Amino acid sequence: MPKFSARCCLSLLLVLPGVCAASAIAIIPKPQQLVIDQGSYRLDAHTTVDAPGDARAREIVAFLREAVHAQTGIQLSRGGSAQGIGLKLDPSVHGDEAYRLVVTAKGITISAATDQGLFWGVQTLRQLLPLRHAGMADIPALHIEDAPSMAWRGMMLDVGRHFYPVSFIEKQLDLLSYYKINTFHWHLTEDQGWRIAIERYPRLTAVGAWRTEADGSRYGGFYTQQQIREVVEYARLRNITVVPEIEMPGHSSAALAAYPQLSCTRQPVQVAITWGVFKDIYCVGNEATFTFLQHVLDEVVGLFPAPYVHIGGDETPKDRWKACDSCQTLMHAQGLADEDGLQSYFIKRIQKYLAGKHRTLIGWDEILEGGADRNAIIEIWRGEAEGRKALASGNRIINAGPFYLDSPTAGLGVKKIYATDPRQGYADAPTGLFLGAEAPLWSERATPLNAESKLYPRMLAFAEITWNDGPRNYADFERRLQAQYPWLDAREVNYGQEDQDLATFHIAPGLHGGWLLQTTSGLPGLVFHYTTDGSDPTQGSPEFTDTLAIQHAGTLQVMPFRHGRAMDLATRFTTVGNLAAGKPITYARPPSPHYSGAANTLDDGLLGSDNFHDGQWVGWEGGDLDASIDLQQPTRLHGIAVDFIQQSGSWVLLPKQVTFYVSSDGQHWSQLYARTLKVDAGDAHPLVQRIEFSSPVPISARYVRVKAENYGPLPPDSAGAGHNAWLFTDEIMLH
Ligand code: ACM
Ligand code: ZN
Repeated sequence: MPKFSARCCLSLLLVLPGVCAASAIAIIPKPQQLVIDQGSYRLDAHTTVDAPGDARAREIVAFLREAVHAQTGIQLSRGGSAQGIGLKLDPSVHGDEAYRLVVTAKGITISAATDQGLFWGVQTLRQLLPLRHAGMADIPALHIEDAPSMAWRGMMLDVGRHFYPVSFIEKQLDLLSYYKINTFHWHLTEDQGWRIAIERYPRLTAVGAWRTEADGSRYGGFYTQQQIREVVEYARLRNITVVPEIEMPGHSSAALAAYPQLSCTRQPVQVAITWGVFKDIYCVGNEATFTFLQHVLDEVVGLFPAPYVHIGGDETPKDRWKACDSCQTLMHAQGLADEDGLQSYFIKRIQKYLAGKHRTLIGWDEILEGGADRNAIIEIWRGEAEGRKALASGNRIINAGPFYLDSPTAGLGVKKIYATDPRQGYADAPTGLFLGAEAPLWSERATPLNAESKLYPRMLAFAEITWNDGPRNYADFERRLQAQYPWLDAREVNYGQEDQDLATFHIAPGLHGGWLLQTTSGLPGLVFHYTTDGSDPTQGSPEFTDTLAIQHAGTLQVMPFRHGRAMDLATRFTTVGNLAAGKPITYARPPSPHYSGAANTLDDGLLGSDNFHDGQWVGWEGGDLDASIDLQQPTRLHGIAVDFIQQSGSWVLLPKQVTFYVSSDGQHWSQLYARTLKVDAGDAHPLVQRIEFSSPVPISARYVRVKAENYGPLPPDSAGAGHNAWLFTDEIMLH
């Protein structure tokens, strides 16, 4: 039947115009009511636009003209004629963002009671335009009555961990608005970078916007106030409210790096270069903290007309407040039971200040700890229990937890988002308390290079379920989603896979030596470029599509490309020659089942990355490494080397002692080498250390044994104090 279906639109159009038109209509989010009529309206250079004369309506018309021209090449007429597009303010269309769109052979009418509604009607009309320049476009006759089911339909971008230029932000605002997302939550300050210029405190950006990475390079960036205004205006023109987030009292290392006198210890603090939660936070017992934050908020409120300011409030360790005289004095003077009480005091004071500026405070759900004022809006990320707590105390909520777009697509794909009810658990929320939902993109592993592959196409499913909470029909959604890809391609959007990670890698020793790297991806047109000199691959680097055989040990960097554009950060594989390759290993004590890797992972010639979750690292929780390799025949050895990793924030520490032995029978061992390590459990930097022994003369041995003594209980002032440390190694290298 391929011949018939290819001709469908040509042959059936004559008799059944509605059929083909219907299958061509692919609006996301799905309108609440859509009735397709007979015929179509021909939009061309004679089409005029008629609209109310107010300033916002004029902006909307300008937006429509520009959008039609960009997509179809048609320059809408400026003359007067009855045949055209009419925008009408009509109070009978109920709802703040509701609109009616009617297309007949005579013309197109968009009616709404508000400017917002008119604008969304225009965005729907854009989705009815063909994607080609032909001088005219036939818009199917139809009748749409539409309005969102949720008032808050947001996307959050963390620009602290990685910086995103204004051009990237504006491109996202264009895309989000096209799918009727109405809120951009701009997470502007973090431990790893302060990104908004504050005139009164220039060090916030001079110092706080820049970090010195582990390799010595400088990373950073910030937005000038002029750029912030530009983004806010760009968003306003697209019906999007920008909600700034200024984190307090935690996640504030970058601010404290600039102004250490605002921390409890008043000691120098670094702009963070690792991810996680940091103990240095603003000192609540110091009045100067409030003076500072109020001055910052004064400027923030001046830049962002939104009625809300998000103050973060999540992940606030109280260690410093517990040990700080000023904080403790304040706690007792206020009659507060504990440090949660101090947090509540802090948030309420900031809330009151913001209220004086006609701004509603939003905070992550931790602000409920110690009690929150009921006017605060709570953004729920830790789960339904927190949401229910917030509702029980009368707070309004935004549900973000199920929509963390930094989580791998394989676990949170389009299908899963589409099947998620943002109201799950809150169906009985009192009227007005459930505001809607938000999809956050935290940027530890997202940069301008790969962020779009995390945002899209998942954001389209999110847009659909927050706009339209009617019955779900995945096949119908999938059909409409497919129709979006050419449009996204035309806009050079680096969208990822729907329900799989962009690419997954499997590397293992090859059958005949060397290694074999296999990739999996279902995204059409994806190719992998690679380098072996440690540099980032470019489009000019050699490429492969699914399998690459590696003969020589070294560094391999692989990056996926599509349409000539890099789609993700490089993945690095490090291979080493190993005389022990593939030989049997026995452990005196088995590793943790969660970190046992593949068979022979300690002699597969593959080193781990700086991420102990990468499948190459083998870990013991609280016990020693004691591994023996049988080389199966007497072998001449020149040296032994073993790597260990430390990530103290994750309770992973170097061993206290490492010893190498050899044997000819596997029973009687002679010690070759022992080394005692000085482990700094307080050093939070990720660290891989190699313990290496070289023999001046070759040694003959059949068996090699490596023992490493676990650090033991974590010291009292560390993360995980009292628990046993983890010990991780990735390879026992013999040469
Ligand atoms: C959060 O994810 N820390 C709000
Ligand atoms: Zn303090």
